[in-house]
Amino acid sequence: MLRRLHKDQPASFAFTPANLAWAQGQISKYPEGRQASAIIPLLWRAQEQEGWLSRPAIEYVSQMLGMAYIRGLEVATFYFMFQLQPVGSVAHIQICGTTSCMICGAEDLVAVCKELIAKTPHILSADGKFSWEEVECLGACANAPMAQIGKDYYEDLTPAGLRKLIARFSAGEVPVPGSEIGRYAAEPASGLTSLTEYESGRSRYNASAQLAVELGDTVKRIDGTEVPLTTPWQGKPAVPEPAGTRADESRPAALAGPRGGKADNLKLILGVGPRLEVLCHRLGFYHFDQIAAWTPAEIAWVDANLEGFKGRVTRDKWVAQAKVLAAGGTAEDAERVARN
Ligand code: FES
Repeated sequence: MLRRLHKDQPASFAFTPANLAWAQGQISKYPEGRQASAIIPLLWRAQEQEGWLSRPAIEYVSQMLGMAYIRGLEVATFYFMFQLQPVGSVAHIQICGTTSCMICGAEDLVAVCKELIAKTPHILSADGKFSWEEVECLGACANAPMAQIGKDYYEDLTPAGLRKLIARFSAGEVPVPGSEIGRYAAEPASGLTSLTEYESGRSRYNASAQLAVELGDTVKRIDGTEVPLTTPWQGKPAVPEPAGTRADESRPAALAGPRGGKADNLKLILGVGPRLEVLCHRLGFYHFDQIAAWTPAEIAWVDANLEGFKGRVTRDKWVAQAKVLAAGGTAEDAERVARN
């Protein structure tokens, strides 16, 4: 395929302040004279910020790295992961068309894209919200056919399922990624045949879907404020200490460790995954009844101290969910509360 710069280009490009700080952190990974090694992460971040790579963006990144513009252009035009034309304002849909997916119905998914988005790939839909393309194997062949939408995978897709996904994205929702037929990961479609004893301790979703739920940003443009800057070699902590280690009146009562040495599975709270669970433990929260008892002031304190996940207690209704779970309810009961 011919990969050229788009005919319509914006006048300029600049990283947001947070993305600029992030980019400078990436550059600092490399020894003096080797800054060009950061070209791919920086181009990728520029794409994450804008949705696609414009000529000013490629020039901006090349200049930051002390490279000739043509070198940046070579990288941007070589790798298919870089979009050289505007993509849908809501989502760019990448349908895998390689063997497993093709055998399992990828062509029907492409037909849906042609009907609902545009007849040809890389063209915006009439409302500007979507674009699509067919891509090579995305490595989720066991759950074919599949599509990458934004940062995440939607698997075991049917044409009807893809239609629904597009409608939901169009309405501003961010559907939970993963298998349309309810597979947890890549186990047999007929269900687990081994390791079944590990089922009870698992989180609501598998790690990658859980992370997507936690971040809630599958199709969001990235401005750099989403996660803390982690450049320990520049004297910054790799895992920032929560501000909550200070004495504070509105800080909820914390435990030094889980009662009886066994913490509740906080991942049963919709929106809490492994990373948030670790953060809760570091703040001294191990049990549903602790969370269920938080006052509004305490909720505000925790919301302000969840580094990288600020506001999640309120957004995902942790307290209401924890009350249900503390009373013996299931993850499904808690999810119902969260979605109401
Ligand atoms: S063939 Fe589609 S993910 Fe591998």
